[in-house]
Amino acid sequence: MKLDHKRILVTSALPYANGQIHIGHLVEYIQTDIWVRFQRMMGHEIYYVCADDTHGTPIMLRAQAENITPQALIEKVWFEHKKDFDDFYVSFDHFGSTNSPENKELSQEIYLRLKKADLIEKKSIEQAYDPVKEMFLPDRFIKGECPKCHSKDQYGDSCEKCGSTYSPTDLLNPYSVVSGATPIKKISEHYFFKLSDPRCEEFLRNWTQVKTPLQPEARNKMKEWVGEPGQSKLSNWDISRDAPYFGFEIPDAPGKYFYVWLDAPIGYFASFKALCQRLNLNFDEWVEPQTTTEMYHFIGKDILYFHTLFWPATLEFSNYRTPTNVFAHGFLTVDGEKMSKSRGTFITASSFITSGLNPEWLRYYFAAKLNASLEDLDLNLQDFTARVNSDLLGKYINIASRSAGFLVKRFDGIIAPEALQHPLIDSLKAASQEVAAMYEQREFGKAQRLIMELADQVNIFVDANKPWEIAKTLNTGLNPSVAAQLQAVCSVTLEAFRILTIYLKPVLPELAKNVEVFLNIPPLTWSSVENSLTEKNIIQPYQHLMSRVDSKMIDTLIEANQLTVPTTS
Ligand code: 2FM
Ligand code: ZN
Repeated sequence: MKLDHKRILVTSALPYANGQIHIGHLVEYIQTDIWVRFQRMMGHEIYYVCADDTHGTPIMLRAQAENITPQALIEKVWFEHKKDFDDFYVSFDHFGSTNSPENKELSQEIYLRLKKADLIEKKSIEQAYDPVKEMFLPDRFIKGECPKCHSKDQYGDSCEKCGSTYSPTDLLNPYSVVSGATPIKKISEHYFFKLSDPRCEEFLRNWTQVKTPLQPEARNKMKEWVGEPGQSKLSNWDISRDAPYFGFEIPDAPGKYFYVWLDAPIGYFASFKALCQRLNLNFDEWVEPQTTTEMYHFIGKDILYFHTLFWPATLEFSNYRTPTNVFAHGFLTVDGEKMSKSRGTFITASSFITSGLNPEWLRYYFAAKLNASLEDLDLNLQDFTARVNSDLLGKYINIASRSAGFLVKRFDGIIAPEALQHPLIDSLKAASQEVAAMYEQREFGKAQRLIMELADQVNIFVDANKPWEIAKTLNTGLNPSVAAQLQAVCSVTLEAFRILTIYLKPVLPELAKNVEVFLNIPPLTWSSVENSLTEKNIIQPYQHLMSRVDSKMIDTLIEANQLTVPTTS
């Protein structure tokens, strides 16, 4: 099967450099990584980049609270994030930082190009200001009394007690979360990207409704956000913040910084640029408007607005390529509810590992639940245990463990190649294109279901041929035709296991690596389906490939994430 050779750049959203990676984040990194690994197996030229999102007020304040510089904070967090991603086999080609020289240069260049295109305007606006801390306050740094039910300590946009929504100016007795002072109003000059300009409107209407095959839910949202022709709903985007701010200064505007959301997506390019320098790739070829390369962003549905309006418009009018597509996913719930620190379901990536759970269990479980839509997905912990044990252990791993021993012990690990002309093998191989199409379309749940149906077929074959009984017959005396039968059954079974491993490899990369050692074969790609095991692949003694989930581990995991409420003595 000769495939078109594609050149693809893929990104996942950049995690903020002030918090730990948790399983909610992992949905996205695992989803993207599975897709990327699949494309690599198809032989495409693909690069997967990400970076820490390092700028903004919360990071600046957290560094102050820890009594370190923002640079020291983001460096420390970078190492933590990198370890978490490595632990879950998220295979970035480059994991950078938005606080990099490449990003500074690109952000400033893009801004200057937008300015030259007459798409930047200055305007004075009034904002909440902390007179003690001497800084402007983002909405979420203001709290106060709910104007409806009078509950105390509510955020500026909505009340957690009565659910009403309002604006920060409606709060009664407002106070700054940073210093406790009462915020005052202060005027300052801000820089805006003129998204309401007719050029932007026309471009965005075409980009979101015609040019880009967005997910249907995303396309509808865009229709709503862009508005009908003549009734545009786009308003100018405030891209500046006043000092003190941790970020990049705006050229020729002392004391003014780029808002974190301006330089964050540019961080995709910057991270890729750093990779290009390392691998000697031609960066310009990938980012020029006429490029034939593809670029996909995987994101959560909450940041669609930034990726399908601000980002493509920023790129278009600074003379860069725009994304080929943006793939949004839903949110993760645990046992049907929002992740919660008090219930112990705000599960961090590192606690999953230290509680002794295998990261590939989570990769498989998420894969089994993921599809191409924006629907939320649920991690049900009981179902997690049952599903991993029954599918991965009961259906898949079981196939190898039941046959390898006989082949190694009685036939020196040598396969009988002529036995592999078998209808079971033909049927497994015939599914290759269907499974591939499911991965391509991000219908991972469908792919896993199909693969498990194929595993069922293999188990039916093993149960019908009972290699353990053939082996018993052999024990009673040497009979060459019975021996050949045993060797044939085990050979078919292991070849079937090899094919299933190809199909599962994007999801279970580490396990697949161990299977490659066990079957003595080179790294599996998608076209390995067309090959077969031969007598040259001396099968190695079977070593345990994966263990069962023990429900006690889940208890340990929940305990590890339980927020301990401090007690007063
Ligand atoms: O929402 C977030 O977590 C952001 N840090 C995502 C940024 S993605 C990209 F645009 F940089
Ligand atoms: Zn209220």
